[in-house]
Amino acid sequence: MISEHLAPTSELNMNQTSAPIKTAKEELADFVEIFPILTNEILKELPGMDMPPQTIAWVEKMINVNVSGGKMNRGLTVLHSLQLLVEGRQLSRSEIFLANVLGWCVEWLQAFFLVADDIMDQSITRRGQPCWYRQANPISNNGTIGSIAINDSFILESCIYILIKKYFRNEPYYADILDIFHETSYQTELGQLLDLTTQPNRGDFSLFTLNTYRRIVKYKTAYYSFYLPVALAMLMAGITSTPAFSTAKDILLPMGEFFQVQDDFLDCYGSPAVIGKIGRDIEENKCSWMICQAILNGTPEQINLLKKHYGLDNPTDVELVKKIYGEIGLKKIFKDYEDESYAFLISKIKSVRIMPQEVFIKLLSKIYKRDL
Ligand code: FPP
Ligand code: MG
Repeated sequence: MISEHLAPTSELNMNQTSAPIKTAKEELADFVEIFPILTNEILKELPGMDMPPQTIAWVEKMINVNVSGGKMNRGLTVLHSLQLLVEGRQLSRSEIFLANVLGWCVEWLQAFFLVADDIMDQSITRRGQPCWYRQANPISNNGTIGSIAINDSFILESCIYILIKKYFRNEPYYADILDIFHETSYQTELGQLLDLTTQPNRGDFSLFTLNTYRRIVKYKTAYYSFYLPVALAMLMAGITSTPAFSTAKDILLPMGEFFQVQDDFLDCYGSPAVIGKIGRDIEENKCSWMICQAILNGTPEQINLLKKHYGLDNPTDVELVKKIYGEIGLKKIFKDYEDESYAFLISKIKSVRIMPQEVFIKLLSKIYKRDL
């Protein structure tokens, strides 16, 4: 159903060998397989930059701990979207490789954000192990990595541009992918600023509204997690039409909001053993979807109690907040929201004509009713 607005598939690299059709498991294996190749691209420059062995070992460990080991949904989305955008034509091995490189660049971007976010949120675990800033400092006898992790997050960001330069310098869309990574970083940083500044005083719920919440999550989550991977595939597919990118944004930003609402629900009710992290939204006084809904649905007495106990880093207060969430029935409110959002997104997707609807359906099916 590719429309005349989109570039003909002949703009893609057709003169190379087609790869055999792969199962989801094989696709994941292909994706995982290139991670050491990309890491090596970063590491191999370091001796020539006069970096001592312990520094090279630090960067290697830091990349291994923080970039790999996630769900890899964002990374795999680049290839999955590209496959659907070329509508039935088999991608060449080189196209698959390049899509996966961009996928890993999205995973590197996420690692950059999460290393820094865990410091700012004082988080304890990530992906089932201590957050990077809490891990043992490998070159000191005692002590943790601590604030060195701030610098490590910047190194992770720089890696993205090394990889893009290495593999995409001669592509016609090189400047576009540089632009979108820069723009998305800025959007996410603004989202993080909103996230960190929407609780000026504990017990003041005046900023905890759904409108404020939606702005925070659009910027801190939706752009980098949903729009970026699909937009990268569109650029690889030679799509230049502004309406196509606007249509993608119009669906993927609400989808990202839906995803972050799930994240907030799981922060409270998810199992740390499954999600790999221990929720801290209540302790950190976050403008979470849970507290916004509690304010909308609670009685004045319940809201007053929440004002007293929300935002305190103390298990007794956290338990009390969770008890009130239970009384308000937030599990049921979330379930209804999930069903409504799914129906809303499906109806939006069904009206898309400018690009294959399957790009969005595939993404939505990956996250609907997720428990991690
Ligand atoms: C996670 O949200 C937040 C993000 C992924 C955005 C983080 C963005 C930054 C840290 C800005 C860039 C940083 C620097 C140093 C320039 P969450 O805390 O709700 O998710 P979580 O439950 O996974 O922690
Ligand atoms: Mg966090």
